[in-house]
Amino acid sequence: MTDTLLSQITARASDRFRKRYGRDPQWIAAAPGRVNLIGEHIDYNDGFVLPMAIDRYCVIVAAENDEARMSNDECQKPADHSSFVIRHSSLNARVYSVSADDEVVIPLAEPARHSTPGHWSNYIAGVIAGCTARNMRPSGFDAVIESDVPVGGGLSSSAAIEVATATLVEAMTGVSLDPIEKALLCQKAEHEYAGVPCGIMDQFASVMCRSDHLMLLDCRSQQIEHIPFSDLNVTVLIINTNVKHELSGGEYAERRNQCESAARKLGVASLRDATLGQLESSRSELSVAEYRWARHAIGEIARTVEAAAAIKAGDWPHVGQLMYASHNSLRDDYEVSCPELNLLVELASKIGPQGGVIGSRMTGGGFGGCTVSLVETAKVEQVAKKISQSYRIEAGIEPSILTSRPARGAHITRTN
Ligand code: GLA
Repeated sequence: MTDTLLSQITARASDRFRKRYGRDPQWIAAAPGRVNLIGEHIDYNDGFVLPMAIDRYCVIVAAENDEARMSNDECQKPADHSSFVIRHSSLNARVYSVSADDEVVIPLAEPARHSTPGHWSNYIAGVIAGCTARNMRPSGFDAVIESDVPVGGGLSSSAAIEVATATLVEAMTGVSLDPIEKALLCQKAEHEYAGVPCGIMDQFASVMCRSDHLMLLDCRSQQIEHIPFSDLNVTVLIINTNVKHELSGGEYAERRNQCESAARKLGVASLRDATLGQLESSRSELSVAEYRWARHAIGEIARTVEAAAAIKAGDWPHVGQLMYASHNSLRDDYEVSCPELNLLVELASKIGPQGGVIGSRMTGGGFGGCTVSLVETAKVEQVAKKISQSYRIEAGIEPSILTSRPARGAHITRTN
């Protein structure tokens, strides 16, 4: 499945590249989206998260452009060094996005933010700026970018663009970044160029996830344990509500800030170090939001560690219970769910273990996007059909269905 989808999108993007730029691509970089099984809104609280890469990728197909070729020629003429410097500082990346049907030119010496906030090219410009700051300077290039990671679905479509860009620059410059440094560079691009104060989960997942494994990430030590997910009787079902409630990025930053202030009031470095007992005894010092949001974070950190152990032990019913508990906490305490996500989880839980549903919860940042459910493989089609039908009737919206095995992290699929 992974190979088929990835090779299809790669072939499409390469074809576009040839038609648009009239030559063959030299490099093809791919980076996946991710789904988080449990551990939501705790990466920025130094907790544990448990994502896997999905077999939906952002692919960038690229080749050096004329500017690069001219500057290479200059490079071979030592006497003309000054001219080389001028040319090098005027190199550009010309990038065409298939989904936006839009081309941008990014000056490589000083990749600026796009004048439209939230523009897709900001992720690319931010990563190129991070690479340049590490002296990884790609020569001028043309590129086509295509992605089948749903946008706004909480499946990290933006991290996939960032990580695909960093992977491309690695191939173009022949310099390999340390994987942690690469993920952090991409996170920084998201902070500085997209203005989203995200945690580290999405970029770490897109860089480091492995096929057939879940990635248990300790967000404090940044250590990773790859947990085999080899039980073919269990399928990861992702259902997109196809709603995105526009609540400006402020909702995310607000939670992050309140969690930090709750930790300060509890006298700990982060909520990773707090216990529910401590929280209860300091309750009067905390605002209502600080108290409830901290209660989610402390509980969710414990649930994630427990879920990882249950998966290793093959105790799927326990994993399912933890997923429902996670959803309830995100809905009632953390207040990041929405009616459509709650409806999908309710429909899944009504089908229950007899109907093949092990567990279900919202996944990602929230306020819309997707649920993730674990379902017995033999019953997954039936379950997806049943939930879709009821959701369509009750919410009046057509959901999208996706299933995925844990897929491979970012890689180069072709280099010339
Ligand atoms: C977004 C952020 C992540 C993480 C999740 C919530 O995806 O980018 O860092 O905080 O929300 O778990």
